[in-house]
Amino acid sequence: MKFFIDSANIDDIRALADLGIVDGITSNPTLIAQTGRPFFKVMEEICALIQGPVSAEVTAIEAEQMVQEGLVLHKIAPNIVIKVPSTPQGIKACKMLHDQGIKVNVTLCFSALQALIAAKAGATFISPFIGRLDDINQDGMALIDDIVQIYGNYPEYSTEILAASIRHPYHVLLAAKAGADIITVPPKILWQLFQHPLTDKGLSQFLDDWKKTGQSIL
Ligand code: G3P
Repeated sequence: MKFFIDSANIDDIRALADLGIVDGITSNPTLIAQTGRPFFKVMEEICALIQGPVSAEVTAIEAEQMVQEGLVLHKIAPNIVIKVPSTPQGIKACKMLHDQGIKVNVTLCFSALQALIAAKAGATFISPFIGRLDDINQDGMALIDDIVQIYGNYPEYSTEILAASIRHPYHVLLAAKAGADIITVPPKILWQLFQHPLTDKGLSQFLDDWKKTGQSIL
């Protein structure tokens, strides 16, 4: 499973990238707004830090303008992936960008049929939003299950399932069990994945006992 960070905060990204487990980044207009910084500068800095795919979202609503924006964003760095919404115009833009050899992440996916259409349009990634479905009392993880099953029926589709709108570590566990290819995780939640009180307790005991031996490895 690949781990992406769902953030545009360069300090948060740098701290996690330093661990060597970050495969890519996803951003969206809300995450950019939260930084209070210029979009292009932020994306340039992220792409300099992360070698894997970095999603940057268009803000136009018509396909032709989405493609124009996508071509501009694509010039930032070779690893930029263009994020378009799961709308008819977004799917049209996806197909047009795909035909030009540009990677596309189809976002705001809330149904398996939207995911099917995105795969047909050549999306590199489909981003089903788990948490936002849970928010309206629908089973977000069932959507991942459906997409895994549908894509499994059609090996000609190479679209990767990028589980998004992750709200807690249990979402990560369930997405991994469901077979999502990628999960994009807010920094705070990614840090939570490391935590277990028995790890802290056990390590403390080991270090105390080692100290008593008076030895050192280096
Ligand atoms: O990148 C999009 C997505 O992960 C948004 O998450 O928490 O705003 O629903 P959230």
